[in-house]
Amino acid sequence: MDKKIQEALNFLQTKFDFNASIALILGSGLGNFTEQIKDKIVTPFRDIPNFPVSTVQGHAGELIYGTVNEKKVLVCAGRVHFYEGYSLEDVTFPVQLLCALGIEILLITNAAGSVNEEFLPGELMIIDKQINLTGHSAILGEEPRIPYLRRLGDLAFRLAKEHDIRMRRGTYMGLTGPTYETPSEIKYFRFLGADAVGMSTIHETVVAHSLGIDILGISVLTNFAAGILDQPLSHEEVMETGLLVRDDFAKLLSEIIKQL
Ligand code: HPA
Repeated sequence: MDKKIQEALNFLQTKFDFNASIALILGSGLGNFTEQIKDKIVTPFRDIPNFPVSTVQGHAGELIYGTVNEKKVLVCAGRVHFYEGYSLEDVTFPVQLLCALGIEILLITNAAGSVNEEFLPGELMIIDKQINLTGHSAILGEEPRIPYLRRLGDLAFRLAKEHDIRMRRGTYMGLTGPTYETPSEIKYFRFLGADAVGMSTIHETVVAHSLGIDILGISVLTNFAAGILDQPLSHEEVMETGLLVRDDFAKLLSEIIKQL
């Protein structure tokens, strides 16, 4: 095991015994899900050796161990992004650590812009496929693989329907950022098959999958991507829409956890 992961693991193992098979990574503005966690043990990322700490508004920066619907879960509330200047090793550090802690299923979430004009801000999207347009890969030297598990996507889609939550399925395109895209880029990405764009997730899923983890990815569509509406995008808009849907989103996540 990597020395940095081992150090983090040693630190956490002196604090408590982990026995969770499910982990979640919560994206921008989606941290309210943590209110549903019972018997919480909260560890700030900054206390964990080698753990990268986010500089972006809306990312809490805590590892939470606890119970949701009688299931033990490990939750990363917040993440770092490649655009913050972190290496891919740092960006994927949490996933590697979760794996070292013994998890088998990862629910990975993010805020994304709708490229598909039929997918409305405020709706959710199961990530069935991803396009890595960052120009980087976190698993160079390994065999090619496809990260998302259809079975988990089908489960989430069925549960969303049962709870009247508007859910789409589509392709997430990951970009480096940190600038939002231009309208011309979005036109091009639509042509390439993207339904949503964002600046996270891609590298985490690739690494998690290479470590044998089953993955369910869900995007909260917080805005129309650039050029669809006649107005500029802002981080505030992304955060505001996140706030509007976060209760539905949190409810859905706990229903999914119940069924895993
Ligand atoms: N583009 C890129 N990343 C995003 C967007 C977007 O429109 N919305 C939320 N994250």
